[in-house]
Amino acid sequence: MSERTADRDWWRHAVVYQIYPRSYADSDGDGIGDLPGITSRVPHLARLGVDAVWLSPFYPSALADGGYDVDDHRAVDPRIGTLEQFDELVRTLHEAGIKLVVDIVPNHSSNRHAWFRQALAAGPGSPERERYVFRRGGGADGELPPSDWTAIFGGPAWEPVGDGDWYLHLFAPEQPDWNWDHPDVRADHLRTLRFWADRGVDGFRIDVAMALAKDLTEPLPSAADLADVLDGDHRFFDRDEVHDIYVEWRRLFDEYDPPRTAVAEAWVPAHRRTRYASPLGLGQAFNFDLLQAGFDAAAFRRVVTDNLRFAREADSSSTWVLSNHDVVRHASRYALPAGADLDAWLLSDGKDPEPDTGGGLRRARAATAFVLALPGSAYLYQGEELGLPEVADLPAAALQDPTWLRSQGAQKGRDGCRVPLPWTAAGPSFGFGPGGSHLPQPSWFADVAADRQDGVPGSTLEFYREALAQRRRLPVSEELTWVPAPEGVVQFTRPGGWTCLTNFGPDPVELPAGRVVLCSGQVRGNLVPADTTVWLEAEQAPPSR
Ligand code: NOJ
Repeated sequence: MSERTADRDWWRHAVVYQIYPRSYADSDGDGIGDLPGITSRVPHLARLGVDAVWLSPFYPSALADGGYDVDDHRAVDPRIGTLEQFDELVRTLHEAGIKLVVDIVPNHSSNRHAWFRQALAAGPGSPERERYVFRRGGGADGELPPSDWTAIFGGPAWEPVGDGDWYLHLFAPEQPDWNWDHPDVRADHLRTLRFWADRGVDGFRIDVAMALAKDLTEPLPSAADLADVLDGDHRFFDRDEVHDIYVEWRRLFDEYDPPRTAVAEAWVPAHRRTRYASPLGLGQAFNFDLLQAGFDAAAFRRVVTDNLRFAREADSSSTWVLSNHDVVRHASRYALPAGADLDAWLLSDGKDPEPDTGGGLRRARAATAFVLALPGSAYLYQGEELGLPEVADLPAAALQDPTWLRSQGAQKGRDGCRVPLPWTAAGPSFGFGPGGSHLPQPSWFADVAADRQDGVPGSTLEFYREALAQRRRLPVSEELTWVPAPEGVVQFTRPGGWTCLTNFGPDPVELPAGRVVLCSGQVRGNLVPADTTVWLEAEQAPPSR
């Protein structure tokens, strides 16, 4: 494989580290993480050994949805930095051999976007309103919503604007949906993609990739009549026409050398994911199946088998995700009994049920080592390299996630995985920055701070560093062979004589043959304890004489 070909394919097997910019590192002490803060932590990323960084939105935003309400897609939030500081970050990452993927949010803008303001000002029936999804309300004066649809964050999916028109927002009211049938919307997004690609961005993560194309011909069905089964029939999720948009984007990505990459966030049934991952479209799609599976041998094996097949069918590579900015961190999920209701647990401030913190971390490390041994690319979320659990007891007054308000307190939301990182055990905001932190950090952050773990054998940070370093030694290949194993154990081999074994069960199991190169816990004699993953490589045959 030539150097250039290898580079074109970097995304197929990359370890991509997600940064939620407002919570990573704060250089100026305003309590909000920023681009210079991230740049200052590139040595951490390089030492960790990641191949790429995915930056969640850093665009100007009123933060009605943590930055996924974008005012201007071709600018940087002044609280986070400047375009020059963005360029500096790209340069520093590239010098360290790390690629950069940015988040694109094409389903909606914010309600402060210039085009949305123009649409409001221009009034009903105006061309400006056609860029979004406005409909006349029902009733004598348009006082009723055009349909009874509910938004994903709760509450109605339509918002009245006071003149008989309502606009559609699948998420918060501050996130009006674009009308993707409008040529201006298409052209503007192409401009955005080019803008960042020209600045050296290597790839894009596409938010809510399955919702852009909508069939809103009248009459609108009632919420009860919206198809449950997606398969292209739903009025706004996973419609086949959405791929026409991505074919056009792919043409743009392929104008670059190496081609820009893209990964779809598409919550669709697994068999529909291949369309998003097609090389004629975005090229890769997130597989969230492990986020939804418990720490369970049969479930993990099934998810891997299915997804390797889907990836092959799509001519793509698979993706593995255990944590991100939208879910309870995996160290906490695995600390709870199987099937625990995570929303109820958060509402109890993380007390009911009582988490098994030690067991959760053990299982999280085992799951991470399992995932990092798989073919395909792995997406890590900031702080998981410290073994961070969820901050489950954030006080109601501190919550920022729109889910909390829109669900009227029925769901606490996603702030518990977005608390600014603890870099140091001492100092203001645990080294996050010289000032405070936009979400309160718990006192136990001192125990898990990066500086407490740095250089400490067996710490989660050193374990991640070792795992990523060993993973680089694995031959690049998308092959995996299952090895028969007892119940509760999953074992597979990779080309080059590598074996990965995870003991999901309660009892120790026998260590397979080979030289141990990584263990998420500690091998005891020739036994692999419960909740542990071990990697082995074949012993070198003695040199023949
Ligand atoms: C998915 C993002 O990951 C999530 O954080 C956001 O709230 C929604 N899309 C809406 O943009």
